[in-house]
Amino acid sequence: MATKGSGLKSTSINGVKRYMVSSQQRNTASLVGPKKHRPSRKDKDYQQKIELVQDLTFPTATSRIKVTPNGEFLIASEEENTDAETAISLEDSEEKTEEEREELPELEGIPIAPSAQTIKKPGVILVLEKASLEVAKVGKNYQILNSEEHANFLRRNNKNPADYRPDIVYQALLSILDSPLNKAGCLRAVYVKTDKGVLFEVKPYVRIPRTYKRFAGIMLQLLQKLSIAAVGKREKLLRVIKNPVTQYLPLNSRKIGFSHSSDKLVEMEKYVAGVGGDTDLVFVVGAMSHGKIECDYIDDFLSISEYPLSAAWCIARVCEAVSKKWRVL
Ligand SMILES: C[S@@+](CC[C@H](N)C(=O)[O-])C[C@H]1O[C@@H](n2cnc3c(N)ncnc32)[C@H](O)[C@@H]1O
Repeated sequence: MATKGSGLKSTSINGVKRYMVSSQQRNTASLVGPKKHRPSRKDKDYQQKIELVQDLTFPTATSRIKVTPNGEFLIASEEENTDAETAISLEDSEEKTEEEREELPELEGIPIAPSAQTIKKPGVILVLEKASLEVAKVGKNYQILNSEEHANFLRRNNKNPADYRPDIVYQALLSILDSPLNKAGCLRAVYVKTDKGVLFEVKPYVRIPRTYKRFAGIMLQLLQKLSIAAVGKREKLLRVIKNPVTQYLPLNSRKIGFSHSSDKLVEMEKYVAGVGGDTDLVFVVGAMSHGKIECDYIDDFLSISEYPLSAAWCIARVCEAVSKKWRVL
Protein backbone atom coordinates (compact mmCIF):
# COMPACT_ATOMS: atom_id res chain seq x y z
CA MET A 1 0.00 0.00 0.00
CA ALA A 2 2.83 2.42 0.82
CA THR A 3 5.84 2.97 -1.45
CA LYS A 4 8.86 5.22 -1.62
CA GLY A 5 10.35 6.63 -4.82
CA SER A 6 13.56 8.51 -5.38
CA GLY A 7 13.77 12.34 -5.24
CA LEU A 8 10.63 13.87 -3.77
CA LYS A 9 9.35 11.30 -1.33
CA SER A 10 5.91 10.00 -2.05
CA THR A 11 3.62 7.19 -1.03
CA SER A 12 0.82 5.74 -3.10
CA ILE A 13 -2.59 4.81 -1.68
CA ASN A 14 -5.11 3.37 -4.12
CA GLY A 15 -2.98 4.85 -6.87
CA VAL A 16 -3.16 8.36 -5.36
CA LYS A 17 0.20 9.86 -4.49
CA ARG A 18 1.03 11.64 -1.23
CA TYR A 19 4.08 13.92 -1.41
CA MET A 20 6.26 15.02 1.49
CA VAL A 21 8.07 18.34 1.31
CA SER A 22 10.49 19.02 4.16
CA SER A 23 12.95 21.78 4.87
CA GLN A 24 14.99 19.32 6.93
CA GLN A 25 16.87 16.13 6.24
CA ARG A 26 14.68 13.16 5.60
CA ASN A 27 13.75 11.28 8.75
CA THR A 28 15.55 7.95 8.58
CA ALA A 29 13.61 6.27 11.40
CA SER A 30 12.26 2.84 10.58
CA LEU A 31 8.59 2.39 9.61
CA VAL A 32 7.63 1.42 13.14
CA GLY A 33 10.50 3.03 14.99
CA PRO A 34 11.17 3.24 18.71
CA LYS A 35 9.23 5.88 20.66
CA LYS A 36 12.15 8.30 21.00
CA HIS A 37 12.35 8.68 17.20
CA ARG A 38 8.74 9.73 16.84
CA PRO A 39 8.29 13.32 15.66
CA SER A 40 6.72 15.52 18.32
CA ARG A 41 4.47 18.48 17.58
CA LYS A 42 6.78 20.58 19.75
CA ASP A 43 9.88 19.75 17.65
CA LYS A 44 11.08 22.67 15.54
CA ASP A 45 11.86 20.22 12.71
CA TYR A 46 8.38 18.85 12.85
CA GLN A 47 6.78 22.30 12.84
CA GLN A 48 8.70 23.25 9.68
CA LYS A 49 7.55 20.17 7.83
CA ILE A 50 4.95 20.68 5.11
CA GLU A 51 2.77 17.74 4.12
CA LEU A 52 0.66 17.67 0.99
CA VAL A 53 -2.14 15.16 0.76
CA GLN A 54 -3.70 15.26 -2.69
CA ASP A 55 -7.10 13.90 -3.65
CA LEU A 56 -7.27 11.55 -0.69
CA THR A 57 -10.56 9.77 -1.27
CA PHE A 58 -11.68 6.24 -0.48
CA PRO A 59 -13.55 4.29 -3.17
CA THR A 60 -15.06 2.11 -0.43
CA ALA A 61 -15.75 2.90 3.25
CA THR A 62 -12.71 3.39 5.43
CA SER A 63 -13.06 2.86 9.13
CA ARG A 64 -9.45 3.39 10.25
CA ILE A 65 -6.84 5.88 9.32
CA LYS A 66 -3.51 5.76 11.13
CA VAL A 67 -0.24 7.53 10.73
CA THR A 68 2.78 5.37 11.47
CA PRO A 69 4.73 6.45 14.58
CA ASN A 70 7.51 8.00 12.50
CA GLY A 71 4.93 10.08 10.64
CA GLU A 72 5.98 8.78 7.22
CA PHE A 73 3.02 6.65 6.20
CA LEU A 74 -0.74 6.90 6.27
CA ILE A 75 -2.56 3.59 6.52
CA ALA A 76 -6.27 3.34 5.70
CA SER A 77 -8.23 0.17 6.16
CA GLU A 78 -11.80 -1.10 6.22
CA GLU A 79 -13.13 -2.77 9.35
CA GLU A 80 -15.43 -5.72 8.78
CA ASN A 81 -19.15 -5.06 9.05
CA THR A 82 -18.97 -1.32 9.71
CA ASP A 83 -20.31 0.89 6.99
CA ALA A 84 -19.54 4.39 8.17
CA GLU A 85 -19.08 6.59 5.13
CA THR A 86 -16.24 8.60 6.61
CA ALA A 87 -14.52 6.98 9.49
CA ILE A 88 -11.47 8.07 11.36
CA SER A 89 -10.58 5.87 14.30
CA LEU A 90 -10.28 7.95 17.44
CA GLU A 91 -9.81 5.00 19.75
CA ASP A 92 -7.74 5.66 22.84
CA SER A 93 -4.10 4.98 22.28
CA GLU A 94 -0.81 6.05 23.78
CA GLU A 95 0.03 7.88 20.60
CA LYS A 96 -2.95 10.26 20.78
CA THR A 97 -2.04 13.85 21.66
CA GLU A 98 -4.05 16.14 23.95
CA GLU A 99 -5.18 18.12 20.88
CA GLU A 100 -6.51 14.96 19.25
CA ARG A 101 -8.35 13.97 22.42
CA GLU A 102 -10.02 17.35 22.54
CA GLU A 103 -11.38 16.76 19.05
CA LEU A 104 -13.62 13.92 20.30
CA PRO A 105 -17.26 14.97 20.05
CA GLU A 106 -18.78 15.21 23.49
CA LEU A 107 -22.23 14.57 24.86
CA GLU A 108 -23.78 15.15 28.26
CA GLY A 109 -24.66 12.24 30.52
CA ILE A 110 -27.64 11.86 32.85
CA PRO A 111 -27.37 10.49 36.40
CA ILE A 112 -28.82 7.09 37.24
CA ALA A 113 -30.15 5.98 40.62
CA PRO A 114 -27.21 5.11 42.93
CA SER A 115 -28.83 1.84 44.05
CA ALA A 116 -28.65 0.61 40.50
CA GLN A 117 -24.87 0.52 40.51
CA THR A 118 -24.45 -1.46 43.72
CA ILE A 119 -27.13 -4.15 43.66
CA LYS A 120 -26.54 -6.94 41.16
CA LYS A 121 -29.84 -7.96 39.61
CA PRO A 122 -31.06 -8.99 36.17
CA GLY A 123 -31.34 -6.21 33.66
CA VAL A 124 -32.76 -5.19 30.32
CA ILE A 125 -30.88 -4.80 27.06
CA LEU A 126 -32.54 -3.20 24.06
CA VAL A 127 -31.54 -3.92 20.48
CA LEU A 128 -32.92 -1.60 17.82
CA GLU A 129 -32.76 -3.30 14.44
CA LYS A 130 -32.78 -1.81 10.93
CA ALA A 131 -32.36 1.77 12.12
CA SER A 132 -32.42 4.22 9.25
CA LEU A 133 -29.21 6.17 9.78
CA GLU A 134 -27.50 6.74 6.48
CA VAL A 135 -24.90 9.39 5.83
CA ALA A 136 -24.66 11.08 2.44
CA LYS A 137 -23.13 14.22 1.01
CA VAL A 138 -26.02 16.50 0.15
CA GLY A 139 -24.71 19.61 -1.54
CA LYS A 140 -21.53 20.54 0.29
CA ASN A 141 -22.25 18.82 3.60
CA TYR A 142 -22.56 15.31 4.94
CA GLN A 143 -25.96 14.70 6.50
CA ILE A 144 -28.13 11.95 7.96
CA LEU A 145 -30.72 11.34 5.25
CA ASN A 146 -34.36 11.84 6.16
CA SER A 147 -37.58 11.67 4.18
CA GLU A 148 -38.61 15.21 5.02
CA GLU A 149 -35.55 17.28 4.15
CA HIS A 150 -34.00 15.06 1.49
CA ALA A 151 -37.01 13.75 -0.46
CA ASN A 152 -35.87 15.29 -3.76
CA PHE A 153 -32.28 14.22 -3.27
CA LEU A 154 -33.44 10.66 -2.51
CA ARG A 155 -35.77 10.49 -5.52
CA ARG A 156 -33.00 11.78 -7.78
CA ASN A 157 -30.89 8.89 -6.50
CA ASN A 158 -33.67 6.34 -7.09
CA LYS A 159 -34.32 5.84 -3.36
CA ASN A 160 -37.69 5.73 -1.69
CA PRO A 161 -37.92 8.67 0.75
CA ALA A 162 -40.30 6.64 2.94
CA ASP A 163 -37.38 4.35 3.86
CA TYR A 164 -35.38 7.20 5.38
CA ARG A 165 -36.80 7.69 8.87
CA PRO A 166 -34.06 8.44 11.41
CA ASP A 167 -36.76 10.02 13.60
CA ILE A 168 -37.92 6.47 14.49
CA VAL A 169 -34.63 5.54 16.15
CA TYR A 170 -34.57 8.98 17.80
CA GLN A 171 -37.99 8.49 19.39
CA ALA A 172 -37.13 4.90 20.35
CA LEU A 173 -33.97 6.04 22.14
CA LEU A 174 -35.85 8.78 24.00
CA SER A 175 -38.47 6.23 25.03
CA ILE A 176 -35.98 3.76 26.54
CA LEU A 177 -33.50 6.26 28.00
CA ASP A 178 -36.18 8.44 29.62
CA SER A 179 -38.03 5.44 31.08
CA PRO A 180 -38.34 4.96 34.86
CA LEU A 181 -36.81 1.52 34.24
CA ASN A 182 -33.60 3.19 33.06
CA LYS A 183 -33.64 5.75 35.84
CA ALA A 184 -33.87 2.86 38.31
CA GLY A 185 -30.69 1.42 36.77
CA CYS A 186 -32.28 -1.63 35.14
CA LEU A 187 -31.11 -0.89 31.60
CA ARG A 188 -27.73 -2.47 30.87
CA ALA A 189 -27.15 -1.28 27.32
CA VAL A 190 -28.78 -0.27 24.07
CA TYR A 191 -27.45 -1.54 20.76
CA VAL A 192 -28.49 0.00 17.48
CA LYS A 193 -27.94 -1.71 14.16
CA THR A 194 -28.44 0.44 11.11
CA ASP A 195 -30.03 -0.91 7.95
CA LYS A 196 -26.55 -0.69 6.41
CA GLY A 197 -25.19 -3.05 9.09
CA VAL A 198 -23.30 -0.59 11.32
CA LEU A 199 -23.65 -1.57 14.98
CA PHE A 200 -23.22 0.92 17.80
CA GLU A 201 -23.66 0.90 21.56
CA VAL A 202 -25.47 3.58 23.56
CA LYS A 203 -24.64 3.79 27.28
CA PRO A 204 -27.81 3.86 29.44
CA TYR A 205 -26.83 7.13 31.15
CA VAL A 206 -26.36 9.16 27.97
CA ARG A 207 -28.64 12.17 27.70
CA ILE A 208 -29.84 12.16 24.13
CA PRO A 209 -30.35 15.68 22.68
CA ARG A 210 -33.89 16.95 23.11
CA THR A 211 -34.31 18.09 19.53
CA TYR A 212 -34.11 15.95 16.41
CA LYS A 213 -31.74 18.37 14.71
CA ARG A 214 -29.13 18.03 17.43
CA PHE A 215 -29.66 14.27 17.55
CA ALA A 216 -28.99 14.05 13.80
CA GLY A 217 -25.79 16.04 14.33
CA ILE A 218 -24.62 13.60 17.01
CA MET A 219 -25.45 10.59 14.81
CA LEU A 220 -23.51 12.12 11.95
CA GLN A 221 -20.48 12.62 14.20
CA LEU A 222 -20.80 9.11 15.56
CA LEU A 223 -20.89 7.51 12.12
CA GLN A 224 -17.98 9.62 10.96
CA LYS A 225 -15.75 9.49 14.02
CA LEU A 226 -16.94 6.15 15.43
CA SER A 227 -17.35 7.34 19.01
CA ILE A 228 -18.69 10.16 21.14
CA ALA A 229 -17.17 10.85 24.56
CA ALA A 230 -18.81 12.24 27.69
CA VAL A 231 -18.20 15.91 28.44
CA GLY A 232 -14.86 16.31 30.19
CA LYS A 233 -14.25 12.56 30.26
CA ARG A 234 -12.67 9.99 28.04
CA GLU A 235 -15.50 7.50 28.49
CA LYS A 236 -17.34 6.76 25.27
CA LEU A 237 -21.09 7.24 25.60
CA LEU A 238 -21.73 6.15 22.03
CA ARG A 239 -19.39 3.97 20.03
CA VAL A 240 -19.43 1.90 16.89
CA ILE A 241 -18.63 -1.72 17.70
CA LYS A 242 -18.09 -4.92 15.77
CA ASN A 243 -20.91 -7.19 14.66
CA PRO A 244 -22.57 -9.45 15.60
CA VAL A 245 -24.58 -8.04 18.50
CA THR A 246 -24.93 -11.52 20.02
CA GLN A 247 -21.36 -11.39 21.39
CA TYR A 248 -22.47 -8.61 23.79
CA LEU A 249 -25.64 -10.31 25.05
CA PRO A 250 -25.59 -12.18 28.38
CA LEU A 251 -25.55 -15.97 28.01
CA ASN A 252 -28.51 -16.63 30.29
CA SER A 253 -30.68 -13.94 28.70
CA ARG A 254 -34.10 -14.37 27.09
CA LYS A 255 -34.06 -12.72 23.68
CA ILE A 256 -37.49 -11.47 22.71
CA GLY A 257 -38.31 -9.97 19.32
CA PHE A 258 -41.37 -7.83 18.60
CA SER A 259 -43.58 -7.49 15.57
CA HIS A 260 -47.19 -6.64 14.98
CA SER A 261 -47.32 -9.52 12.49
CA SER A 262 -46.23 -12.19 15.00
CA ASP A 263 -48.83 -14.94 15.60
CA LYS A 264 -48.08 -14.92 19.32
CA LEU A 265 -50.18 -12.07 20.72
CA VAL A 266 -49.47 -11.71 24.43
CA GLU A 267 -50.31 -9.45 27.33
CA MET A 268 -46.80 -8.23 28.07
CA GLU A 269 -47.20 -8.00 31.86
CA LYS A 270 -48.30 -11.64 32.10
CA TYR A 271 -45.56 -12.75 29.72
CA VAL A 272 -42.81 -10.99 31.71
CA ALA A 273 -44.19 -12.32 34.99
CA GLY A 274 -43.62 -15.84 33.67
CA VAL A 275 -39.91 -15.32 32.94
CA GLY A 276 -37.45 -16.60 35.59
CA GLY A 277 -36.45 -13.97 38.18
CA ASP A 278 -32.70 -13.96 37.46
CA THR A 279 -32.93 -13.92 33.67
CA ASP A 280 -31.67 -10.89 31.79
CA LEU A 281 -34.15 -9.68 29.19
CA VAL A 282 -33.06 -8.70 25.68
CA PHE A 283 -35.74 -6.88 23.69
CA VAL A 284 -35.37 -6.58 19.94
CA VAL A 285 -37.49 -3.89 18.31
CA GLY A 286 -37.51 -2.66 14.72
CA ALA A 287 -36.52 0.97 14.18
CA MET A 288 -37.74 1.10 10.58
CA SER A 289 -40.97 2.35 9.04
CA HIS A 290 -42.11 -0.94 7.53
CA GLY A 291 -41.10 -4.55 7.18
CA LYS A 292 -40.29 -7.08 9.87
CA ILE A 293 -37.13 -7.62 11.90
CA GLU A 294 -35.20 -10.69 10.82
CA CYS A 295 -32.90 -12.00 13.53
CA ASP A 296 -31.65 -15.54 13.99
CA TYR A 297 -30.81 -15.06 17.69
CA ILE A 298 -34.35 -14.52 19.01
CA ASP A 299 -35.93 -17.05 21.43
CA ASP A 300 -39.46 -15.73 21.22
CA PHE A 301 -41.29 -13.49 18.76
CA LEU A 302 -44.18 -11.53 20.21
CA SER A 303 -46.99 -9.24 19.26
CA ILE A 304 -48.02 -7.10 22.21
CA SER A 305 -50.99 -5.24 20.77
CA GLU A 306 -53.73 -5.82 18.25
CA TYR A 307 -52.59 -2.56 16.68
CA PRO A 308 -49.43 -1.61 14.82
CA LEU A 309 -47.40 0.50 17.24
CA SER A 310 -44.55 2.90 16.77
CA ALA A 311 -41.23 1.56 18.01
CA ALA A 312 -41.35 4.15 20.82
CA TRP A 313 -44.78 2.96 21.98
CA CYS A 314 -43.75 -0.67 21.75
CA ILE A 315 -40.72 0.05 23.97
CA ALA A 316 -42.84 2.04 26.42
CA ARG A 317 -45.32 -0.82 26.78
CA VAL A 318 -42.54 -3.37 27.30
CA CYS A 319 -40.75 -1.13 29.83
CA GLU A 320 -43.95 -0.64 31.80
CA ALA A 321 -44.53 -4.39 31.98
CA VAL A 322 -40.99 -4.99 33.28
CA SER A 323 -41.31 -2.08 35.71
CA LYS A 324 -44.37 -3.75 37.26
CA LYS A 325 -42.50 -7.03 37.67
CA TRP A 326 -39.43 -5.39 39.20
CA ARG A 327 -41.49 -2.93 41.25
CA VAL A 328 -40.10 0.20 39.65
CA LEU A 329 -42.52 3.05 40.35
C1 LIG B 1 -42.91 1.22 13.10
S1 LIG B 1 -42.94 -0.43 13.64
C2 LIG B 1 -42.51 -1.30 12.18
C3 LIG B 1 -43.72 -1.71 11.49
C4 LIG B 1 -43.77 -3.16 11.05
N1 LIG B 1 -44.91 -3.30 10.16
C5 LIG B 1 -43.87 -4.15 12.18
O1 LIG B 1 -44.88 -4.21 12.89
O2 LIG B 1 -42.91 -4.90 12.42
C6 LIG B 1 -41.54 -0.53 14.61
C7 LIG B 1 -41.42 -1.72 15.49
O3 LIG B 1 -42.31 -1.68 16.58
C8 LIG B 1 -42.60 -3.00 17.00
N2 LIG B 1 -44.06 -3.17 16.95
C9 LIG B 1 -44.96 -2.39 16.36
N3 LIG B 1 -46.20 -2.84 16.59
C10 LIG B 1 -46.07 -3.93 17.35
C11 LIG B 1 -46.99 -4.84 17.94
N4 LIG B 1 -48.31 -4.72 17.79
N5 LIG B 1 -46.51 -5.85 18.66
C12 LIG B 1 -45.20 -6.01 18.84
N6 LIG B 1 -44.28 -5.18 18.33
C13 LIG B 1 -44.71 -4.16 17.59
C14 LIG B 1 -41.88 -3.93 16.05
O4 LIG B 1 -40.67 -4.36 16.62
C15 LIG B 1 -41.64 -3.04 14.86
O5 LIG B 1 -40.57 -3.49 14.09
